[in-house]
Amino acid sequence: MKDSLVSKLIEIAGKDNVKTSIEDRIAHSYDATLYTQLPGVVVSPTTTDQVAGVMKLAYEEEIPVTPRGCGTGLSGGAVPSEGGISLAMTRMNKIKEVDAENLMAVAEPGVINQDLDKLVESMGLFYPPDPLSKKGCSMGGNVAEGAGGPRAFKYGCTRQYVKGLEVVLANGDVLKTGSRTVKYVTGFDLTGLFTASEGALGVMTEITVQLLPKPAYTETMLAIYDDVWQAGRTVSEIVAAGIIPSVLEFMDSATTKAVEAYAKVGLPADADAVLLIETDGHAEAAREDIAKCVEICQRCKATRVQRAHTAEEREGLWKARRSAMAAITRINPSLIQEDPVVPRSKVADLAKAVLNIGERYNLHMCSYGHAGDGNLHPSILTDIRDPAAMKRAREAVKALFDCVLALGGTLSGEHGIGREKAPYLRQEVGDVGIATMKALKDALDPKGILNPGKIFVN
Ligand code: LAC
Ligand code: ZN
Repeated sequence: MKDSLVSKLIEIAGKDNVKTSIEDRIAHSYDATLYTQLPGVVVSPTTTDQVAGVMKLAYEEEIPVTPRGCGTGLSGGAVPSEGGISLAMTRMNKIKEVDAENLMAVAEPGVINQDLDKLVESMGLFYPPDPLSKKGCSMGGNVAEGAGGPRAFKYGCTRQYVKGLEVVLANGDVLKTGSRTVKYVTGFDLTGLFTASEGALGVMTEITVQLLPKPAYTETMLAIYDDVWQAGRTVSEIVAAGIIPSVLEFMDSATTKAVEAYAKVGLPADADAVLLIETDGHAEAAREDIAKCVEICQRCKATRVQRAHTAEEREGLWKARRSAMAAITRINPSLIQEDPVVPRSKVADLAKAVLNIGERYNLHMCSYGHAGDGNLHPSILTDIRDPAAMKRAREAVKALFDCVLALGGTLSGEHGIGREKAPYLRQEVGDVGIATMKALKDALDPKGILNPGKIFVN
């Protein structure tokens, strides 16, 4: 980046908030995908005015800007443009307010998800969206990518909780959206538009979210299957029985094997599938629901059903699911992970298809995820240094998305389109879908400086 521009950025954001060393630029060149690009400068603003100043300058000079949270994203959304500005929002990390009377909280984008959740929990409240990276992912990133998590089955994803935003637009104007009221249909739903917009429409500088009362009681169980179809049938039967578990998570055979090798949680090596189920609410209702889930799992021929009776036992059962990503990344150096959603009755079809695609392209593939939502994480364990394996991996991704769309599904449930799924967007949303999204993009970012190269590639 030109020295004169760096000097202007220092004038706007202060010397401590502008970094150009190669170490700082490399540290902001990646997210949790395999895709990297080196920014020309890293700016870490501490106020909305600084963000507005950076955007005004970037707009005048036509410099690409990629907003960034903590870099845990799985679609390349936070990967900067080569030579552009990485706008790291981590220093805007204050929880500004918890309004217990109105069940709302106001946070800056750099607040860590778990920090907000812990604070509101100490007040008897609850912020449901719980991405598995919650210890280290930011609220801004969660809103920008529309993050989900295990509790989405009952409580929904980030989108359902965002009630208002402060957004700095491409030209530096500051927009406030939404309201703290329960009802709100005043004009277009701009809060909804900016949620999951992947840094391509504006930079969020303040987020207002809705909270819930903390559920009084939680029950947890694990069910093990030697037939993935039966696990799939269990999901459908639980839903058909009118039970809404707070969590209904799945791991396939290859994931289970990897988890057991890594975390030694006592899962059988020959299990074809594992379900982790939780119910919550009033103690009696949660107990009644989990008892019904046990019955359904047994009817669907689970080979073992294990209920947690203590907090330690609950933690033990969760360890299996929480370890999934770490466990599978030990198999091969590079992980490609997707997040398609299919109608939940098709979850077993998707899990089987992942294994078939792995066989067809001679790749180590597995899947796990949020079965209750029909949202799995098909994962390719590969090696970025092996061009032949990477070519097969790209073909496998294409085959996977063809299969997901044929099953009536969608490309992304909670990680966003970003860079890697962009080539497939048109296949799902069609020409009119792309044209409508591009019209919005062009209206809000006429010079195309916000996170270019993402979402649209054709
Ligand atoms: C998970 C992340 C990958 O569910 O979304 O583990
Ligand atoms: Zn997930």
